[in-house]
Amino acid sequence: MLKKALLIILIVGAGIQFIPVPINQSDEILKTDFFQIVEASLNIQQVVKASCYDCHSNNTNYPWYGRVRPFAWFLQKHIREGKEDLNFSDFQDYSGRMKREKIRSMISQVRDGEMPLQEYLWMHPEAKLSEKETEQLIQFFENLNTQ
Ligand code: HEC
Repeated sequence: MLKKALLIILIVGAGIQFIPVPINQSDEILKTDFFQIVEASLNIQQVVKASCYDCHSNNTNYPWYGRVRPFAWFLQKHIREGKEDLNFSDFQDYSGRMKREKIRSMISQVRDGEMPLQEYLWMHPEAKLSEKETEQLIQFFENLNTQ
């Protein structure tokens, strides 16, 4: 009975690997990318790229299991929903008002510890913002909005 169940899991597990998943990876750094238009220290760029770009840009840095279904589907869902709300790769295409709104939203999401998403941090502890990084990011976003 257990053997049969395991066999079924194995067959289904192998079968779903053939269901296609879009891959969110582009080698191109778009002229519309956030960091092409705002001035930021290397440190800030690294923090945002490590903690936010996986879901909010056209370039995800996939973990080794990133192409393995069903994990790939969870990732894809986060990427799709994340990019719908905020895409750093397209930032320059947003209107002035939209840019300000998104930056305000970034401040509150980071301040409230809503971003990066909790589920993501379980698998990506390196993306967790330290207290210092949180302060630095908030300061950086606040400065952008007063320019
Ligand atoms: C694991 C994927 C993931 C990561 C990493 C991530 N986000 Fe998000 N983000 C989402 C999703 C999904 C949403 C859509 C709303 C929700 O589910 O809360 C979202 C929503 C947002 C919003 C709301 C946009 C709006 O329209 O108001 C902002 C702002 C935001 N994220 C900023 C960030 C910042 C800044 C970081 C890095 C510190 C980050 N996110 C990291 C997935 C992610």
